[in-house]
Amino acid sequence: LKKSIALIAHDSCKDALVDWCLSNREQLSRYSLWATGTTGSVVGAKTGMDIHRVLSGPLGGDLQIGSKIVCGEIDILIFFWDPLASQPHDPDIKALLRVAALKNIPVATNQATADFLIASPLLDGDKHL
Ligand code: PGA
Repeated sequence: LKKSIALIAHDSCKDALVDWCLSNREQLSRYSLWATGTTGSVVGAKTGMDIHRVLSGPLGGDLQIGSKIVCGEIDILIFFWDPLASQPHDPDIKALLRVAALKNIPVATNQATADFLIASPLLDGDKHL
């Protein structure tokens, strides 16, 4: 069974996520990809990658991804959140980050950490994935 990565980016960060996905296309192709609604549309359209989508973040998509994490169905979270904008669904974002910490899955909240994560030799092991 393929491991799963969830991709989420707030609006001002979507271009950065698209660029990151293009730079890491080969590595990402080994995973089943999930995303919140708009992130999935934008990244899918601009990269050609096949991405399963849940609802848009403000409509509950972050909670759907969180629910999948709780169920053990998401193994890695790439979440480029905007540190300069307040979000109407801030409580959902907090819940998502809480369950990701609870389940001890690798989380990248910016491009630098995502680069470290995707280059990690631990990706091929069983320690966290
Ligand atoms: P979106 O949601 O991918 O539907 O834009 C992301 C978010 O706001 O958490």
